Amino acid sequence: MSDFMEIIKGRRSIRRYQDREIPEEDLNQVLEAIRWSPSWGNTQCWEVIVIKDSVIKQNLQETLSAGNAATKAIGEAPVVITLCGKLESAGYKKGQATTKFGDWFMFDLGIATQNLCLAAYNLNLGTVIVGLFDHDKAKDILKVPEGYEVVALVPLGYPTQEVSAPSRREIAEFVHYDTF
Ligand SMILES: Cc1cc2nc3c(=O)[nH]c(=O)nc-3n(C[C@H](O)[C@H](O)[C@H](O)COP(=O)(O)O)c2cc1C
Repeated sequence: MSDFMEIIKGRRSIRRYQDREIPEEDLNQVLEAIRWSPSWGNTQCWEVIVIKDSVIKQNLQETLSAGNAATKAIGEAPVVITLCGKLESAGYKKGQATTKFGDWFMFDLGIATQNLCLAAYNLNLGTVIVGLFDHDKAKDILKVPEGYEVVALVPLGYPTQEVSAPSRREIAEFVHYDTF
């Protein structure tokens, strides 16, 4: 269990990568971690685009909002994984939303993304979850069909350096017992 906590605590957002390819079996292990993510009613509403093409990476990099610290990461990483979600699937029954939150695709994609990042870290690979970009432009570039949305970009590669951990709130600051 201590190894497990080391993985949870040791994973950092990595924004600079070595010029080094990722072995296919490691890439497959990362995709396998997405595959085994839990999801609403096991709907598995994710679709994953594995990008290695430098022109597509360059075009995607241009969709990042000005000042996004992950901009270089998109062009530099040997692989960029794009997580897309199928709409009106998670949280839906017979075409109707079942809770006040409507579509749960963002929730399910969040879990899948964390599985990806932890599995990557376990293989000494760095990742950063990128959410601040023009999702519609990315959707066009990646030819994502209607009924699906691009949710996050995750560059993947060997880190150039260690990064220190940003601070976290103490447990006592966010945990409530019995009532809020
Ligand atoms: C949903 C989500 C979106 C994020 N979007 C970006 C982003 O657009 N650019 C970026 O540099 N980091 C982004 N991050 C990374 C966070 O800044 C980072 O996880 C946070 O500062 C904690 O650092 P750590 O991941 O090293 O623990 C995002 C993280 C999450 C979970």
